[in-house]
Amino acid sequence: MFNGKKVSLCITGGIAAYKAAEIVSWLKQNNALVQVAMTKSACRFITPLTMQTLSANKVMTDIFCEEVEGVAHIELAKTDLFAVIPATANIMAKAAHGLADDLISAAILATKAPLLFAPAMNVNMYENVHTQSNIKHLTSVGAELVEPAEGRLACGDVGRGRLASVQELKDKISSMLLAKQDFAGKTVLVTAGPTIEAIDPVRYLANRSSGKMGYAIAKAAKMRGAKVILITGPTNIVQPAVDLFIPIQSATEMREAVLENFSACDIVIKAAAVADYRPLKVSEQKIKKSENLMLELVKNPDILQEIAARKGDKIICGFAAETENMHKNALLKLKNKNLDLLAANPVSGKDNAFGSDENRLTLFFKDGQVRELDKMTKDKAANTLLDAILELV
Ligand code: PMT
Repeated sequence: MFNGKKVSLCITGGIAAYKAAEIVSWLKQNNALVQVAMTKSACRFITPLTMQTLSANKVMTDIFCEEVEGVAHIELAKTDLFAVIPATANIMAKAAHGLADDLISAAILATKAPLLFAPAMNVNMYENVHTQSNIKHLTSVGAELVEPAEGRLACGDVGRGRLASVQELKDKISSMLLAKQDFAGKTVLVTAGPTIEAIDPVRYLANRSSGKMGYAIAKAAKMRGAKVILITGPTNIVQPAVDLFIPIQSATEMREAVLENFSACDIVIKAAAVADYRPLKVSEQKIKKSENLMLELVKNPDILQEIAARKGDKIICGFAAETENMHKNALLKLKNKNLDLLAANPVSGKDNAFGSDENRLTLFFKDGQVRELDKMTKDKAANTLLDAILELV
């Protein structure tokens, strides 16, 4: 699959280091040339011998390492993908601040290859303001991040900090290594996340969208060479390196931002879960408690329908979030909203797309084709959706 592409896989110190072994083995089996580098701490969790055996290559463990010809950190930097798995708070702090006091941090500074960090650490370390600001900086200058998962951590704490699943890491590595520049010259507008509709200064109406699907599409399009405009409701996701990032709150604000940028784009992908209704009146003061509260709601404009009505030769892809009769409802939306493509997903039951790292999409094309996709990571689903869109361009 990888046809001799070079991967520098850097392992930093954490209990998740052992999971890097599976990634190295998979890369090697798929014909990548793997150069493993390990920090001293990583070597205490898993041996260089394991990595040397799996990669069929000498492992770099020191900036002055003599096993490698040439200057170690420069050789490590010359690669098609530079991945740090697992990435400690320390290595990300060094990378964010341009420190170069060991093999891996020096190579990060020297590399021109796409950079990938897969953090794993204690939840408090991950959520720490410094770690978050370092991550924000790294992603804003183009590094890719595979967010850690939530769960029980090796230290006994519970929260976000577990290394992402091996499948998620493989999908991300594949999409980065195989990224074709097949969206070069195209401007893609993506909407993501929920919209929130104010009731009063304290309360709002919202939905369960996390923004993961829309952000995955924006990142995949960027990686494939598109100019990307991401219009997003409030999420907890780190801002990705897109060309224009427009945070909004309400459906009205999203509509304004979409209309303002519509003429500049070739493709629109509306993954946002836009609130269908908003309170007729937004109270200026906090509404006092009473036995019952009646809220009068008015319909929000359907942004997708509005832009599709004047789409010209632009490609418009909508989403449909359904809890029942998915095929029937999706076909109706495809037709009524005059779309080129509609990606439908379940939002209840075991395949609920809301908040999940995975999605099971069914694609409905305007020529009547229906394509049921397997359940896959949102990164992979995003790339599969982009492949389908390219068929229409
Ligand atoms: O964010 P995640 O947690 O990753 O979850 C992903 C998702 C489930 C939110 C996403 O995959 C998804 O299905 N997004 C569309 C949700 C939705 O609003 O579906 P809908 O069937 O209500 O709307 C149909 C389409 O019309 C959507 O493209 C929507 O963006 C658009 N719409 C809806 C209402 C409105 N007023 N304006 C719109 O443009």
